[in-house]
Amino acid sequence: MNGPPVIRIPLVDLQAQHRKIREEVLAALLRVVDSQTFILGEEVEALERELAAYCGTRFAVGCASGTDALFLALLALGIGPGDEVVTSPYTFFATAGAIVRAGARPVFADVEAGSFNLDAERAARVACSRPAVRAVIVVHLFGACADMDPLCEAASRRGIAVIEDAAQAIGAEYKGRRAGSLGTMGCFSFYPSKNLGGYGDGGLLTTNDEELAARLRALRVHGSRERYRHEWVGINSRLDALQAAVLRVKLRHLDRWTEARVRNAEYYRRRFAELGLPVAAPAAPPYASRHVWNQFVIRAPERDRLREHLTSWGIGTEVYYPIPLHLQPCFRDLGYRPGDFPVSEQLAREALALPVYPELSEESLEAVVQAIAAFYRR
Ligand SMILES: Cc1ncc(COP(=O)(O)O)c(C=O)c1O
Repeated sequence: MNGPPVIRIPLVDLQAQHRKIREEVLAALLRVVDSQTFILGEEVEALERELAAYCGTRFAVGCASGTDALFLALLALGIGPGDEVVTSPYTFFATAGAIVRAGARPVFADVEAGSFNLDAERAARVACSRPAVRAVIVVHLFGACADMDPLCEAASRRGIAVIEDAAQAIGAEYKGRRAGSLGTMGCFSFYPSKNLGGYGDGGLLTTNDEELAARLRALRVHGSRERYRHEWVGINSRLDALQAAVLRVKLRHLDRWTEARVRNAEYYRRRFAELGLPVAAPAAPPYASRHVWNQFVIRAPERDRLREHLTSWGIGTEVYYPIPLHLQPCFRDLGYRPGDFPVSEQLAREALALPVYPELSEESLEAVVQAIAAFYRR
């Protein structure tokens, strides 16, 4: 029988990471359990200080998820009904979902095929031509920063805010500056598969603006700065001390894990070129001075057949994202149609994420390369 070789390479392997830090994590969890302080508190404040320093911002404010971070950012800016927010149609749902939850309207601008990120010139044009636009949410997708300078210049001309959705981009750099420090506020997710993932949900905002930081701290506890006195209507979105303790352990390893992701991405890129494989390998755009490779996403016109083939070889893949946001059923009322954002629609048909997690061995990386080569030899 000449079936495919039996290998098992998942898209993400959280067990592999956990095995190496198990003792450190258990000690940190025990510290919190013994303290019996579970919500916010010292552990969360320490994480906020460490992540503000890591991202190069004055302030960081923990919250319950990346989705809440986006929502809180909009609330802090007072964005609501009658307002518009420009964003990418090629991102995880939460980016646009948060805009609608705030009562505002998402206005999409297409992305660039090479970087998967907002086309800055296009987004700037949309922001400058619509008077109701109050902010841009720019997404640093898959771990590479979007082209921030033209966007921030246009936003400051228009007097509107730039919110960075940096959920997939902790530690990524744009011209040497960190994601989360480039716009008005940065939003991060600690979903377990993120580069800095918790043992559950979690999120965080970064900013250099003291007034915004104070408002965010209030908004995450029902808009209250003083017990039982509410200046704003906020939400309950607090970060758990248990999550903060795990994240503080993991933060100590993050740069080493990021270097391993960079090495893995370089390995794929080199081997794809050597073998002349007809897949478009992702590359860091010149301004993305540090790509942190949360995902390694190739483009292949015959994506669905390639995916089936890799599955049959035991290789985990994922499609980020099969339906661009302007075509989501729940956004039908926005009035967009197929063909409105052709680059996003093409990426939705062609993009395929391959395993790139830090603990992958060279043998596994080569097995993925060989499986793709076998598909194109057929
Ligand atoms: C680009 C992007 N934005 C927002 C989110 C939402 O984060 P969370 O799952 O922590 O709510 C995620 C991740 O899930 C994401 O990838």
